[in-house]
Amino acid sequence: MANICVKTLLPANRILGATTSTVCSQRAKSWFDGVKMGPPDAILGITEAYKKDTNPNRINLGVGAYRDDNGNPWVLPSVIKAEQRVIGKKLNKEYATILGIPEFYNKAIELALGNDSQVLHEKRNSTAQGISGTGSLRIGSAFLSKFWDGNREVYVPNPTWGNHVPIFEHAGLPIKKYRYYDPNTCGLDFKGCLDDISKIPARSIILLHACAHNPTGVDPTKEQWLELSKLIKEKNLYPFFDMAYQGFASGDIDRDAQAIRIFESEGHQYCLSQSFAKNMGLYGERAGAFTVACANKEEADRVTSQIKILIRALYSNPPIHGARLVAEILNDNQLRSEWLKDVKIMADRIIGVRSKLKDNLIKNGSKLSWDHVTNQIGMFCYTGMKPEQVDRLAKEYSIYLTRDGRISMAGVTTKNVEYLAKAMHEVTK
Ligand SMILES: Cc1ncc(COP(=O)(O)O)c(C=O)c1O
Repeated sequence: MANICVKTLLPANRILGATTSTVCSQRAKSWFDGVKMGPPDAILGITEAYKKDTNPNRINLGVGAYRDDNGNPWVLPSVIKAEQRVIGKKLNKEYATILGIPEFYNKAIELALGNDSQVLHEKRNSTAQGISGTGSLRIGSAFLSKFWDGNREVYVPNPTWGNHVPIFEHAGLPIKKYRYYDPNTCGLDFKGCLDDISKIPARSIILLHACAHNPTGVDPTKEQWLELSKLIKEKNLYPFFDMAYQGFASGDIDRDAQAIRIFESEGHQYCLSQSFAKNMGLYGERAGAFTVACANKEEADRVTSQIKILIRALYSNPPIHGARLVAEILNDNQLRSEWLKDVKIMADRIIGVRSKLKDNLIKNGSKLSWDHVTNQIGMFCYTGMKPEQVDRLAKEYSIYLTRDGRISMAGVTTKNVEYLAKAMHEVTK
């Protein structure tokens, strides 16, 4: 313990035996001496290394945010228009309700479930605005932690978005994995997936990526979703959908929501988190929603009352600006159709650059199969490159990505794709 002299802030008459306002005291051992340095975030580490690199050909393929063909962030024109309208309304900055802005969250769930949703017709959804996808998952994990009376393990695909694990574990729900990705084909291990799911104890929670699986970019086909739905129902499992990329995957919001709609039409009760980070480019605005599709309206009302209690203690009420932008777009037919075009521009650019990457790998003489580059969908491509190959890309070519070989396709442009393909060929031949 260190002996230190401090100038006291207390009045002299409150210090027993002190004749001056300076006292010598012993500083107590710090409360946080035992706190160890945590590991840096893998993605941020990549960005740091990229920033330090002075090679003019450097490429950052780590970041999970859309970039245009010049490598710049893109504010969607429909979002700019919505923002001008919102600002023009000169709205006040009062708190939203605990559940958020109704014009936002009611439209958000409509976007996910579509106009034919029985859940919506029967008003048996309990929907709350969340702090983007992460916050919505967090509400879901808190709700399940408190009210789920089945098996408390949450089964997630292997691999899954890294944050799924701590989100559920922080809420006291341990994670288990089911087979999903096949490294031999860089595609779906459908047999392994069905095998593992069939062994999950009844009344467990199973997490499903609705579309554009992160990190693999591998999604089940419609027929495979139907089969998964059947099995998950047979096994009496509870599906938790994470939909962070609706529209961003295929460019078609209905197609990207097909898994949830299949499960709903097959009679599942489920829950769902949504994010508007990617499909509206609202990353930092943190607009999302969490929904429990209940058995009936009366149950939904009870669930909503409890979700409000949880949110109140977590952050009281959600931020308003991003939700106002989404509401402006989704409640105006003209602006909504402009947004749908913007989403398609993003999805099409990603799909186009996938083809260019594959073509250039072949052009460079690669004998490997790169079909998975175009078979996978969404922001990410799980290339199948090994950690040592990824290290070589960074060291020899100034190309930065996570060591699992995941490329953010958003970082690939018509200008850098040839350089990237050549480098990928060099380290994989
Ligand atoms: C699968 C998945 N779920 C959820 C999220 C949450 O994103 P956000 O909190 O930015 O909406 C992401 C973002 O990368 C994701 O990939």
